[in-house]
Amino acid sequence: MALLWRCIRALLFRLDPEQAHHLSMAIFAALCALPGATPLLRRLLQVRDPRLAVNCFGLDFETPVGLAAGFDKEARWHRCLGALGFGSIEVGTVTALAQPGNPKPRLFRLAPDRALLNRFGFNNDGAAAAGRRLARRGEGYQLGVNIGRNKEVANEAANENYLAALRQVWAGADYIAVNVSSPNTPGLRGLQNAEALGELLAAVCRENRALALASGGAEKPVLVKIAPDLDDEQLDGIADLVLQHPVAGIIATNTTLGRDGLSTPASEVASLGAGGLSGGPLTARSRRVVARLYLRLQGRLPIIGVGGISNAAEAFEMMRAGASLVQVYSGFIYEGPLLPRNIARGLLQRVGDRSISVIVGEAASLYGRASLSLEEA
Ligand SMILES: Cc1cc2nc3c(=O)[nH]c(=O)nc-3n(C[C@H](O)[C@H](O)[C@H](O)COP(=O)(O)O)c2cc1C
Repeated sequence: MALLWRCIRALLFRLDPEQAHHLSMAIFAALCALPGATPLLRRLLQVRDPRLAVNCFGLDFETPVGLAAGFDKEARWHRCLGALGFGSIEVGTVTALAQPGNPKPRLFRLAPDRALLNRFGFNNDGAAAAGRRLARRGEGYQLGVNIGRNKEVANEAANENYLAALRQVWAGADYIAVNVSSPNTPGLRGLQNAEALGELLAAVCRENRALALASGGAEKPVLVKIAPDLDDEQLDGIADLVLQHPVAGIIATNTTLGRDGLSTPASEVASLGAGGLSGGPLTARSRRVVARLYLRLQGRLPIIGVGGISNAAEAFEMMRAGASLVQVYSGFIYEGPLLPRNIARGLLQRVGDRSISVIVGEAASLYGRASLSLEEA
């Protein structure tokens, strides 16, 4: 299987990365549409063991390994992707109104670093369309919906724009991720400032409650997704702030603007232009952010750890740093469709006869202690 994946990857990596993404998903979706294919995939690839089960912000996750936002931006493929053994899939980022995103090319591979650089800019066909697609659910995964603001909307008017997206996807989501950390929407990261973030979270949580009351159902867990490029003071500030709102957790981290310590030649990196970097160069940085948040939150809120996870050892260490759940994106591009299964198996080996949840945060002091630059990553 590993050899087969290496051959497929060699072919895909000859294509433009965005084309490769759409081609591979079109083929995969066609395969999944064959009678009996999705249940068969699930049987072959889903690793289900009570030791991996995690209950987090009121939801049951069959495994802590999820797919990060940005892979299934328009909620088109979550049923097929779920069959690969992810315990959660976060679709989006979805914006209230459809928008084209930045001009192509806007996705690049930095193979020597097992990294990606993207400046997509929230290309998506809008929250109403995504909301309709959420209704058709697959089995075995929790479905998160990541919402962001439209490019043309100023931060001063962002709250209403987020709420417009929220209303359209709310019914189909198991949890909501409020994305204030993409580097590719000008000014978006400004919403991480205490005042702006406080107002945004208050507005989203109020609307969440109103939607729950109107539907007669329960409120959805609301999480906030943050950048890796925050200093310790800002991280502590965000941890303190989220505790003041009925927020269910923090997703850390999004892509970085840093470019230090890469193996890809600097001139090549510079020629790619602006964008957020993900994958290998983010591993240590994201882990440290998670550890720092964990130490500050003292277990009062769960953290989803994401950034540079491409194997079981990295997933395990992210959880030891303080993540209750983990997500992958770039690692999935490099390691292929068996990654969720391989990580799940590797976690089971490492955890022995314990439940995976008992390791959460056990190395937070180790990873959260020193300040770490991307160079050390
Ligand atoms: C091509 C690409 C597109 C992404 N799009 C989004 C997005 O729309 N919304 C979001 O919150 N994060 C997005 N991300 C960030 C990922 O969800 C994740 O936080 C980040 O890539 C770090 O994880 P990784 O190192 O496993 O890739 C994107 C990442 C990549 C590589």
